Amino acid sequence: MSTDWSRRRFLAWLGRTPPALALAASVPRRGLARGRPGVVTPLESTRADVLSLAPGLAYHVIVREGDAINARGEVFGTGNDYLQFFPLEGPQDGLLWVNHEYPVELFVNGRPRELPKTRADVTRERMMIGGSIIRVRRDPEDNRWAMVQDDRYNRRITAETPIPLIAPRPIAGSMTAIGTLANCAGGVTPWNTVLTAEENYDLFYGEVDYKSGDSNKRVTADKRPLRWHEHFPLHPEHYGWVVEVDPFSGSAKKLTALGRFAHEGATVRQAKDGRCVVYSGSDEKFGCLYKFIADAPGSLEHGTLYVASFDTRRWVPLVWAEQPVLRKTFYDQLDVLIRARDAGPLVGGSRLDRPEGIVIDPVTQAVLVSFTNNTVRRNFYGSIVRIDETGGDPLALTFEHSTFLAGGRTTGFACPDNLAFDPGGNLWFTTDVAGEDLHGEPYVAFGNNGLFVVRMRGPDAGLPVRVAAAPVEAELTGPLFARDGRTLFLCVQHPGEESASLERPTSRWPDGPGHLPKSAVVAVEGGLLDHLCVPAKG
Ligand code: FEO
Ligand code: CA
Ligand code: CA
Ligand code: CA
Repeated sequence: MSTDWSRRRFLAWLGRTPPALALAASVPRRGLARGRPGVVTPLESTRADVLSLAPGLAYHVIVREGDAINARGEVFGTGNDYLQFFPLEGPQDGLLWVNHEYPVELFVNGRPRELPKTRADVTRERMMIGGSIIRVRRDPEDNRWAMVQDDRYNRRITAETPIPLIAPRPIAGSMTAIGTLANCAGGVTPWNTVLTAEENYDLFYGEVDYKSGDSNKRVTADKRPLRWHEHFPLHPEHYGWVVEVDPFSGSAKKLTALGRFAHEGATVRQAKDGRCVVYSGSDEKFGCLYKFIADAPGSLEHGTLYVASFDTRRWVPLVWAEQPVLRKTFYDQLDVLIRARDAGPLVGGSRLDRPEGIVIDPVTQAVLVSFTNNTVRRNFYGSIVRIDETGGDPLALTFEHSTFLAGGRTTGFACPDNLAFDPGGNLWFTTDVAGEDLHGEPYVAFGNNGLFVVRMRGPDAGLPVRVAAAPVEAELTGPLFARDGRTLFLCVQHPGEESASLERPTSRWPDGPGHLPKSAVVAVEGGLLDHLCVPAKG
């Protein structure tokens, strides 16, 4: 795909950059003075099996799957996605929370997914999923971010960790779920806890076949389910929640008040009265967008769940006592929450094109939502939609909406997923064309999945520019900026996930020839970030 237009615009965008300084910025940042201008050229689409970065950026791996994190034998999980940082001794030292979404079976078990799985295979997979808490800091010797080996905070939460369900009654006979899984994106609360969102939970233990009326029957929407229930028949209703984790103690709880669906993430915003709202989309074709409003400040355990009606531009409450159609279909309020993906459309929730990343514009307070695609509706490229709550108030129950950016050949991106703002106020987004679709039409021209930056103000506002591209069949996930804007923490998720054999994997990132591919967290730094991402003065 030609990106000449974007290069021309991007050169104009960074037109203040003198050529000599631009050249200097194409070497790694070490030794470069802070504040020098950054990159001059956006990346073309690429099929290279490397983490490609625009000139002026460099990366190093902080941690990769399988790395030991403590002396208890716990290892860093696979499929890293959402990241969040909690400072400890100053801004260059803190705890990094990392989601671990799903395993690539070939690389975890050494056997193709078509073969029957043993209980030991499933146990290995369960230990690689959930989340990691690791201490990271900038090493004063070489000025690089690194994991602090065997720090007392380093720990895992896995698909085997017992986690209480915060609910008014037992769910499937229990107030405790075994483990968390499908941990896709997430959020962070003002009281320094992380929210990890359980997305495609049916991939693991299946989903209850509610249509059949047989509560023991399981179904899955996934073409390649992991079939964990064949060895561990756990109940699907224990998954599909938002899980709140205290990264300092490792304690976790499942917040049933936020509803059960294919939670892509959980974006938190605080209202003037101190209460928090949480935005979350159900990432499925025709899935809904939800908003939770907490009853009281400092907690997400109780509150009201709403679903977005784009036709009426209203948030509709999913309240059993108030909605005759919900009373007719579900036994109680918790049943509504357990089946929020069915309840949403029943009260008029709009059936959307896979809502994924959600972020709040720090200047306008607009809510930006990625709609990644919906191939059934022939929406192949997706878009980023802007929602303006009435009066800019997160507690508002009415809103306006418009398209902020449409994917496609003109804009040069397809299938937006994670969204993040840097401290300089620019929007960044990653793209996620599924590994099985990357090599065919209509996606082949877009190359490997990427990372794009969009200026929000000025003459080039709204132009997406590719600044990173993932290795083969990987997705870039979890973009998170350090508060000073100098570091972008980023995940490379599932490189080579379509590989059919260990002998000929489709990717060998990050370690190169002779090595199997691994998911990993990297630190990206360099002149571009120094130039674009520093917080505005004052
Ligand atoms: Fe796990 Fe919707 O991405
Ligand atoms: Ca995602
Ligand atoms: Ca996605
Ligand atoms: Ca994905």
